[in-house]
Amino acid sequence: MSMVKFKSGFTSARMKSGSAGICIMVLTLIFIIRFEKPVHKLPSNHTVDDSSISLEGESIHEPAKKPHFMNLEDLDYLFSNKSISGEGDTNGLLVWSHMRPFLERPDALPETAQGIKEATLAMKDLVFLINKEKGASSSAMVSKDIRKNCPHFVTAIDGDLSGSRPVLELPCGLIEDSSITVVGIPDEHSRSFQIQLVGSGLSGESRRPIILRYNVNFSKPSIVQNTWTEKLGWGNEVRCRSRGSVRNQIVDELPLCNEQTGRITLEESPNEDTTIEFALLNADFPFLKGNPFTATLWAGLEGFHMTVNGRHETSFAYKEKLEPWLVSAVRVTGGLKLLSALATRLPVPDDHASLAIEEKLKAPSLSRTRIALLVGVFSTGNNFKRRMALRRSWMQYEAVRSGKVAVRFLIGLHTNEKVNLEMWREAEAYGDIQFMPFVDYYGLLSLKTVALCILGTKVIPAKYIMKTDDDTFVRIDELLSSLQEKPSSALLYGLISFGSLPDREQGSKWFIRKEEWPLDSYPPWAHGPGYIISHDIAKFVVKGHRQRDLRLFKLEDVAMGIWIQQYNQSVKSVKYINDKRFHNSGCKSNYILVHYQTPRLVLCLWEKLQKESQSICCE
Ligand SMILES: *[C@@H]1O[C@H](CO)[C@@H](O)[C@H](O)[C@H]1NC(C)=O
Ligand SMILES: *[C@@H]1O[C@H](CO)[C@@H](O)[C@H](O)[C@H]1NC(C)=O
Ligand SMILES: *[C@@H]1O[C@H](CO)[C@@H](O)[C@H](O)[C@H]1NC(C)=O
Ligand SMILES: *[C@@H]1O[C@H](CO)[C@@H](O)[C@H](O)[C@H]1NC(C)=O
Repeated sequence: MSMVKFKSGFTSARMKSGSAGICIMVLTLIFIIRFEKPVHKLPSNHTVDDSSISLEGESIHEPAKKPHFMNLEDLDYLFSNKSISGEGDTNGLLVWSHMRPFLERPDALPETAQGIKEATLAMKDLVFLINKEKGASSSAMVSKDIRKNCPHFVTAIDGDLSGSRPVLELPCGLIEDSSITVVGIPDEHSRSFQIQLVGSGLSGESRRPIILRYNVNFSKPSIVQNTWTEKLGWGNEVRCRSRGSVRNQIVDELPLCNEQTGRITLEESPNEDTTIEFALLNADFPFLKGNPFTATLWAGLEGFHMTVNGRHETSFAYKEKLEPWLVSAVRVTGGLKLLSALATRLPVPDDHASLAIEEKLKAPSLSRTRIALLVGVFSTGNNFKRRMALRRSWMQYEAVRSGKVAVRFLIGLHTNEKVNLEMWREAEAYGDIQFMPFVDYYGLLSLKTVALCILGTKVIPAKYIMKTDDDTFVRIDELLSSLQEKPSSALLYGLISFGSLPDREQGSKWFIRKEEWPLDSYPPWAHGPGYIISHDIAKFVVKGHRQRDLRLFKLEDVAMGIWIQQYNQSVKSVKYINDKRFHNSGCKSNYILVHYQTPRLVLCLWEKLQKESQSICCE
């Protein structure tokens, strides 16, 4: 999960252990779920529609009242199924076509309406491009287009740098490790200048979101970082100034503001609520009028980081719905003479249009009977490299190649048409992608989890269903042999967190309001980078969501824990099997699964397994 990935960076933060009182918790939960459901719904002023029917057969769910915040025309369009199709197992819309009833819930997650609206626009653009491509005469032409679509780097010098248009266009967004370097000289009379990362302008939106505004202010030397969207306006700013308060925070192990040793004076921030303020010593202010600088902004796991003249200066944690994959251009404004700009390590897809795709990388056809294991890999549009690394490594296990185990990437649409087109080609080439009828916002991950349960029960029925991420290495052989001695039903298997506490710290990516989860602790849940459930639980999840007995909850892995607890109470006693060989951060040898592995590391782990027959780490 790129998105997925950005989420997972904080996994351990949720691992506060403790809390007994499980019994009380369970009783309270029963009470809440059974009798108080409407009170704890997500914000929406609708009564739960109970006219849902038919659990097993073909979904007939006719809501009497439709949620008014969702545009039904968008839904009709998304599910009209007129535009595109594939064949057999490799059709990328197999889950998609089952999803409508799950999106129409009046108590949908807050991002749902936006995710669907944008998916509709993205789909219209994509259909247009596909049809155009079909019309194009030679495939050579198409092939050439690809490299133009998603270049590895873009650069601008001199003449390109004037005027109001963006300095750089980044047609396929940023991924982890992408960087943007600008060389410039602040004017002698400059009061301020700004470097901005802006999102893609979907055809329906008038103004593009600002994913990062980096404002350097010389009047009162300070650096102010913020976001902006048409709907929400400016977000909470992070201000680094010469002389300020000393509290600091860490993003990707880097401080929000560079703190040089020396005298730091305390000063209260004027508007404490919306501003986080940090100290930079005046003498150390990284930008000087009339002096050239080289500034590199790079995308980490958890946030953006700025290095000026070789020194780390500032960091900025990604905000929800403003993740780096959304960036589509760089703008520079204010009193700055820009000398050059370069964006590099950008996401590039493989050339799927070439005829030379190795057969062994394509999804094998599946046996008709129920397969042993379905692995759903949560991925996001421009993580091309991560998906290729999995295809070339653990997706080559014999069990996968023989069709005993199926691996599918679950991906929402991107806000950029070029990324969608590349993804579409990738899906056609490898047959292992299932698309989601919404844009890939972090807040919608648990809808993907529901989609995975649909996939594993209705489309590719499997005995066990596993959820994992695209930066995770899974030893399928070890996993299968470990599953052999596990119960075949009522199973949750993985690295399980018992009695963990909701994060009540505002601003945290894991922040959960009392209304979202009123209890003091969560039921047992298994960490998102890899967990396995049995078929019966997946079926219960699908049915429960169709009947709306199960609530949606934005933390995907915790949500699964919540649903499973309900299964435990109402159907069958669940076996929670904890296995410490599932490593949710970093690598340890003798693993079943390791997380946070870059494509290079994923390939290295595979090589070590092949050559040395040992599960040892690469770092
Ligand atoms: C919810 O709806 C009821 C009537 O259906 C109305 O009286 C109430 O003001 C609404 N509440 C909000 C927060 O919109
Ligand atoms: C489109 O609809 C047909 C039936 O009308 C169905 O067989 C097919 O699976 C659908 N395709 C997709 C991609 O949803
Ligand atoms: C620069 O800082 C001064 C003093 O805090 C403020 O009045 C001004 O609006 C800032 N300018 C910009 C462009 O942010
Ligand atoms: C599951 O149900 C059993 C009783 O059937 C109960 O003892 C246990 O505490 C439950 N576990 C959870 C996590 O709710």
